[in-house]
Amino acid sequence: MADWTTIEALPSPKLLDLFANDPDRLDRFSLDVAGIHFDWSKTHLTPDALSAFEALAKAKDLAGRREAMFAGEHVNVTEDRPVEHTAERGEGNAESVARAGAYHARMRALIDAIEADALGPIRHVLHVGIGGSALGPDLLVDALGREETRYDVAIVSNIDGVALEEVFKRFDPGATLLVVASKTFTTTETMTNAESVLSWMKEHGVEDPYGRVVALTASPDKAVEWGVDETRVLPFSEGVGGRYSLWSSIGFPAAIALGWDQFSELLEGAAEMDRHFRLSALHENAPALAAFADLYYTQNRHAETRATFAYDERLRLLPSYLQQLEMESNGKGVTIDGQPVGRPTAPITWGGVGTDAQHAVFQLLHQGTHLVPVEFVAVIEAGDTLAPDHHRALLNNAFAQGAALMKGKQVDDPARSYSGDRPSSTLLLDVLDARTLGALIAFYEHRVFVSGVLLGINSFDQFGVELGKEMAKAAEKGGGDFDPSTTDLIKRAFG
Ligand code: F6P
Repeated sequence: MADWTTIEALPSPKLLDLFANDPDRLDRFSLDVAGIHFDWSKTHLTPDALSAFEALAKAKDLAGRREAMFAGEHVNVTEDRPVEHTAERGEGNAESVARAGAYHARMRALIDAIEADALGPIRHVLHVGIGGSALGPDLLVDALGREETRYDVAIVSNIDGVALEEVFKRFDPGATLLVVASKTFTTTETMTNAESVLSWMKEHGVEDPYGRVVALTASPDKAVEWGVDETRVLPFSEGVGGRYSLWSSIGFPAAIALGWDQFSELLEGAAEMDRHFRLSALHENAPALAAFADLYYTQNRHAETRATFAYDERLRLLPSYLQQLEMESNGKGVTIDGQPVGRPTAPITWGGVGTDAQHAVFQLLHQGTHLVPVEFVAVIEAGDTLAPDHHRALLNNAFAQGAALMKGKQVDDPARSYSGDRPSSTLLLDVLDARTLGALIAFYEHRVFVSGVLLGINSFDQFGVELGKEMAKAAEKGGGDFDPSTTDLIKRAFG
C-alpha cells in the first residue's frame, strides 16, 4: 500500500548491520552527479524503504508534479503562479526560458557598462536586500569571491544600522554602487537601508546618488517610482521565488564581482542538476534520494531537526542559506488543499562549519537524546595554499565524524560510551567552482521540492512571515492591539 503507514512501519535496522548484510550497500546508496559524490550509505535507507518511497512518490504523482513545475504550470497554487527558477538556468517552459535569457542579457549589458565606467569609477558594490534577496548572493560571493575581485562587495540585510555603519567605515561613498535587491520593492529593512545609503552618499558630497543605484526586482514599476532610472532596473519574473532567486538579477553582485563567465558556469551547473533531477529514475536521483532520507527520519524516527556541516570555510554560509530554503519552503502546516498536514513537515534546519562545530555542538550529536541526521559537505580540492596538512586534516575530520556517529563505542563508564547508529550523509565535491556550486544549490532546491510534493504542501509560498511584519508595522506607527507583555516592552524601550 502506497501511503505513509508503510513508511512509518519500516523497521529500524542498525547501520552496521546494514553494511554487514549487504556488500552492495555503498554502491546502492551513493551517486556521482555534476562533480558531486553523494553518499547516503550511512543513513538507514534500505531497499525496502526505497521501494516504499517510490510507491509513495507514484501515489503523490511526483513525476507529474515535477513535469508541471518544469512546464511552467501554476504549481504555486496559493499565489497562482508558475515556479520559474529552473528557467533562469535555461531549463523549463520555453517562454519563461526566453524571458529569463532576455533579463540576463540586460544584466550583462549593464555590468559591461559599469565596467566601462559609465556610472563613474565604481570600486565598491553595496547590495542591500534581505532573506532570499541576500542569502543567495552572499553565499555565492563568499564561496567564490575570495581571491581578489574587481569590486569590493558588501551585502547588508539587517535593519540594525550597525551592519550598514560597518560598511560605511570601509567604503568610499564616491566610488560606491548601491544595489537595491527586493523582489517586491516594499520590504521595510531593504528600503530603510537603501534610503540610509543614499543619505550617506549625499552627506559625503555625491551629487546624484540616484545615478549610482541599480535595482534588482520583480516589481520594476515600484523601483522606477522610488527613483531608480529605468535603464538601471534589472527585472526578474514573479515566478522566481525569493529564496530561489540567486540565478536571476538577484545574483548581480556575484555576476559583477566574479565576472559573467563564472555566473554562466553557475547557471550551467544548476542546469545539469535540473536535467539529472528531471530525467533520472528515483532510485538514482540525488534530490529524490536525499528527500527520502529526510522523510524517513522525520516520519519514521520522529527526528525534529537536520544539521548540515560545511567542512570548508568557503561554504560557511551554506547552513544559513539552507535554513531559509528548507524552513521557508516546507515549514507549513496545511496541504495544498488547505487541510492540516497531520504529520511533521520541514525539519528544523541548522548546522555550522567543520571543524569548529566539533568543538561546540558535536557533543549533542554523539551522546545527546535527540536524533539528528547529519550532513557533511566537503571539497576534495583545497581552498587554501598552506601545506596540505590543513586540508587533509579537515577532510579526515569530516569522514571520521561520520564514522564515529555510526560506529559508537561501548565502555564500562556510561558517560564515556557512545550509542552509535547515528545517521549521516556526505556530499563530496571535486572542486568548489561556480559550476559545482550551481549544481549543489540546485540539488538542495529539488530536494525541498520532492519533500513538499510527498507531504502534499506548497513549497513556494511563505505566508507565515506576514503576521509578524504587519504587527511590527503597526508598532512602528504607534498603534497595534498588543497584549500587556508586548505593550510593556514597547513602553520600556520608547517611553
Ligand atoms: O519575509 C520573507 C521574504 O518575503 C522572503 O521570502 C524574501 O526572500 C524576503 O522576504 C525578501 O523579500 P523581497 O525580496 O521582496 O524584499
